[in-house]
Amino acid sequence: MRRNEQQERQAWTPDVPKEFPAHYALGGYSDHQISRIALKYLARTENIKRAWARIHHHFPETLSGAAPLDILELSTAHGAMLEVWRHFGHRVRGTDFGGWSKDYNKNAKRPKFLDKLTAKSHDNPRGDKNLGWIYQPIIESLGLEVDLFDAGCLPYPYPDKSFDVLCCYQAIEAYAAPEHWGTIADEFCRIARQSIVIGFNPPAIKLREDEAHMAIVREATEALRSFNRNGFKCVFMEFGETRAGFHPTAVKLMACAPAATGKARPKSAPALPKNVGAVVLPKTDPQK
Ligand SMILES: C[S@@+](CC[C@H](N)C(=O)[O-])C[C@H]1O[C@@H](n2cnc3c(N)ncnc32)[C@H](O)[C@@H]1O
Repeated sequence: MRRNEQQERQAWTPDVPKEFPAHYALGGYSDHQISRIALKYLARTENIKRAWARIHHHFPETLSGAAPLDILELSTAHGAMLEVWRHFGHRVRGTDFGGWSKDYNKNAKRPKFLDKLTAKSHDNPRGDKNLGWIYQPIIESLGLEVDLFDAGCLPYPYPDKSFDVLCCYQAIEAYAAPEHWGTIADEFCRIARQSIVIGFNPPAIKLREDEAHMAIVREATEALRSFNRNGFKCVFMEFGETRAGFHPTAVKLMACAPAATGKARPKSAPALPKNVGAVVLPKTDPQK
């Protein structure tokens, strides 16, 4: 989304409550571990503002007054969506990929504002350091629960109908090539009870000019716009403008069959992900 459009969207929501702190409490993590996080994702206030606007625009049914829901965010990264939903009293869980190169971004310079982030430490439990999970310091500081697995490997480690709401923003492109987004949406339907939003990245610069690839993206997008199976139906496809031009930014699927709603969440926590999916979906070649 272009910067102005992002701000314009935020202007159409209530103000973000003051109780969200301005900075993450990352005292005690090494500069190397923190510097592996993309700079823009270290800015807590901006992350919260983006998440606040997304939730108000895409999930109004989860706002004030909604009964507590079980919510899963695929590829949460910095966890801001989960922070906002937790603020509204929902039970939240995230996922992310834990297999990035340990040297990822190893030459990153120390961001100037790191002093502000390391000024405070958190008291939440710290897991073993996992340099393959870039966002570990932020997620631990927020006390959020995040399962690590490659979301291009199916099935996911959750029982059927585990969550009322499921979202996946700006990550499906990394899970699999567009031909397989429908299969991923089927898996989202398997574990979701009520609503699903998939947010899209702008088409990558190199791929944008590849007509054959863009034709496949259009076909995959159209298949999601006309999605009507597994008890879920598309209710909107949203478009926006970014550096990549005008393109789809999000699609929402809602449960339309009684069988897909109202099932109680299993009391036990989901099984720990083993990252060994039965099916590994092919990804788009980033070198193309
Ligand atoms: C562009 S960030 C989006 C973060 C967040 N959802 C947002 O919209 O601000 C992409 C996220 O996808 C995750 N990711 C990339 N490949 C993945 C994979 N194969 N399986 C699961 N997550 C993946 C990254 O670790 C990162 O958290």
